[in-house]
Amino acid sequence: MAIFLDTGNLDEIKKYYQMGLIRGVTTNPTILVKEGVTGGMKGVRDRSIQIAEMINPYPLSVEVTNNDEKKMISQALEFSHWADNINVKITIHGPNGELENLRVINSLENEHDIRINVTAMMSVQQCFLAAMAGATYISIFGGRINNMGYDSKEEIKKLRKILNDFSLNSKIIVGSTREIFNVIDWLHAGAHIVTVTPKLLEGMIVHPYSKETVQMFLKDAEKIS
Ligand code: E4P
Repeated sequence: MAIFLDTGNLDEIKKYYQMGLIRGVTTNPTILVKEGVTGGMKGVRDRSIQIAEMINPYPLSVEVTNNDEKKMISQALEFSHWADNINVKITIHGPNGELENLRVINSLENEHDIRINVTAMMSVQQCFLAAMAGATYISIFGGRINNMGYDSKEEIKKLRKILNDFSLNSKIIVGSTREIFNVIDWLHAGAHIVTVTPKLLEGMIVHPYSKETVQMFLKDAEKIS
């Protein structure tokens, strides 16, 4: 698994998919709006189907757009019919700490056999409980944890250990990636997946000293001919 791309931009997804670098894509409503998706649920559907087809069989996470229990369930059922490789993203709780979300997550995974990515989590305890509820993916926001003054690497280490200790199969996705070095640090700490923006992925590849070296090779190659 290792790297997912956190974007709804089709050109960027195609570019990095063709390089063989990504093993999945994550989106959320904020990302889709930023990429110019409009037209309500039809807009979300069209973009999601395009991405899912492009990266098949790798997974695409699509987030529900409502926090009403019945609507979350009906949207999840709808999304899962758009493509086999679509997972449904649901936040750990509602905007005011409403708890129905975990009941929805448990029911969708265990009764409806739909793969769920539980998102917007900032702590090990939230992730542990999402894993207990049966989530396939548990998304912890490393950058936001660091911004709150906690060490995201320590949280990830504790999380991976507790999943192992209790034989929980959920896969850890670390998102909210801010800096290039986060990626290796978080994978090293125990993340199964880090989801990165296209800009960060490009930054992982391109190095100023590599550029200089390549320029030297090409300049000297000209002298040979
Ligand atoms: C993860 O799935 C989220 O889309 C994302 O990484 C959140 O990042 P942010 O803190 O930059 O909004």
